[in-house]
Amino acid sequence: MAFRTLLAALSALMTVSASTMVLHESRSAVPSGFTRQGAAPASDTLTLRVALTSNNVAGLQEKLMSISTPGSSDFRQWLSMEDVKSFMQPSAATVAAFNAFASANGLSPQVISPNGDWVSITLPVSKANSLFAANFETFAHPELTEPIVRTLSVSLPSELVGHVDVVHPTTEFVEPKARLTPMPGTTLLGRGTPSASCNSAVATGIITPACLQALYNIPATPATQKTNALLVTAYEEQFAQQADLTDFLKLLRTDIPSTTAFTLLTTDGGVNTQNPNDAGDEADLDVQYTVGIATDVPAQFLSVGGNNFATSLLDTTTFLDGVAKPPTVMSTSYGSTESSFGSSMATKICNGYMALGSRGISVLFASGDGGVRGNHDTTSVCNNNAFMPVFPASCPFLTSVGSTQGFAPEKAINFTGGGFSAVFPTPSYQTAEVASFLATVPSNFKGTFNKAGRGYPDVAVQGWNFEIVVGGEAGLVGGTSASSPTMAGIIALINDQLIAAGKPVLGFLNPFLYSTSGAFTDVTAGHNSGFVCPATSVAFDAVAGWDALTGLGTPLFDKLLAAALA
Ligand SMILES: *[C@@H]1O[C@H](CO)[C@@H](O)[C@H](O)[C@H]1NC(C)=O
Repeated sequence: MAFRTLLAALSALMTVSASTMVLHESRSAVPSGFTRQGAAPASDTLTLRVALTSNNVAGLQEKLMSISTPGSSDFRQWLSMEDVKSFMQPSAATVAAFNAFASANGLSPQVISPNGDWVSITLPVSKANSLFAANFETFAHPELTEPIVRTLSVSLPSELVGHVDVVHPTTEFVEPKARLTPMPGTTLLGRGTPSASCNSAVATGIITPACLQALYNIPATPATQKTNALLVTAYEEQFAQQADLTDFLKLLRTDIPSTTAFTLLTTDGGVNTQNPNDAGDEADLDVQYTVGIATDVPAQFLSVGGNNFATSLLDTTTFLDGVAKPPTVMSTSYGSTESSFGSSMATKICNGYMALGSRGISVLFASGDGGVRGNHDTTSVCNNNAFMPVFPASCPFLTSVGSTQGFAPEKAINFTGGGFSAVFPTPSYQTAEVASFLATVPSNFKGTFNKAGRGYPDVAVQGWNFEIVVGGEAGLVGGTSASSPTMAGIIALINDQLIAAGKPVLGFLNPFLYSTSGAFTDVTAGHNSGFVCPATSVAFDAVAGWDALTGLGTPLFDKLLAAALA
């Protein structure tokens, strides 16, 4: 009896070992908002992207921390495209393992990234189900015109474990509308002469470039360096209008030519139509406050096509990986809940920002407009005390920008996205600041979050009642969408002066910012319960020092510049 049992067990082991599958990533339930529509037809064709494991991501991370930390021997010695590739490309063993798997299964992988770390495969659903022990189904969402094909679980054959980081799209369920839709501010009451400074803004509550210049000591003098570009990214068919930028400059930057233009870049079939009806509030806001603050810094607008936000974020990084002379600053006002990406995809995208930062690009993201509860709070989440971090804002290799409101003192605005990543651990540059903040959180606090996670945002800037021009009309908008481009403008102007002085640009900012906290005005009041959720709902409070609403505080250009030049 015992002998027979052993034999049965042995034969079972042998059958399995030919195709041992190792669970790679799974979800226990269909994410909220999505509904199951049934199995994906077996003969339908799927195109999957496979991330081949980079040969030395840990080495790149170590290098990035060294070159971005003041005082190190290689401080600000940013890497070339080829240097980054040497870390990010898969090893020969990884390529061989994947190619053996592909040829054994009749697949023809195509390399789709400059660093060789992404390949694409096209195969029928039935084959994808068996090769990755998946169950591809179709899922609908009220905001989607077409259902998507996803699986709640994906596995890897054991011979690919350690060689493949992501199979996409599989368990990623990012909601449509990742745009941090600028929220309409208070009505623009019979707009007269634009506010010349924040003194009049105190009266009117309207934020203009002049007000931001006065508040943060930002110079209005034109930049001189033509090699220093500031890039704004755009997704979800947000188009920036040159005519709106011209009107904005005529209204609010009368001291510079209203013909100041931005350069259009596109990837994945992105476009930027100039029909006034197509004007996008997000795109116009981002372009107007980068051009409006970073006087005469060459401005770029990257329109990314496609309808999957995770793919678009990834393709933004792979696009820049292939640009020999990239911009020095990039600002993005989009995000979604971190959990919707899945940890493997979030990690891979975040490593893309690690690569950009190591090339000397300051990557900035708006921190989200739902306070502690996702990118936009809705009444349905107000009682949810399991906080929902926002990605990419939660990635430790970029600078996350929150929002303030009011003057003397500025306060954290209720919607400022902030909290702690559930995927990324607290990075070394903020350990002390995060520990001090956590010590202020009461022991009976009802919110649940990852105390060992990366805390965000890193900094904050005004984010309410920004005057912009959209489709020929002036109006007021708010959101962390307004804060990120403004901060990006400040960084671009500092880079201009660094280049003029023959010094390297700021690149990955955080280790520098956290060791230069004297260059920020600490924001010590505010509660980030959200725009919609009542102020009584559980959230973080701003405190003295770093906090998960405004980070280090709001920037003082002159002090940041002095520290940068030191
Ligand atoms: C959040 O702040 C904005 C701007 O001050 C305000 O209009 C909104 O009513 C506030 N939301 C709540 C729930 O108090």
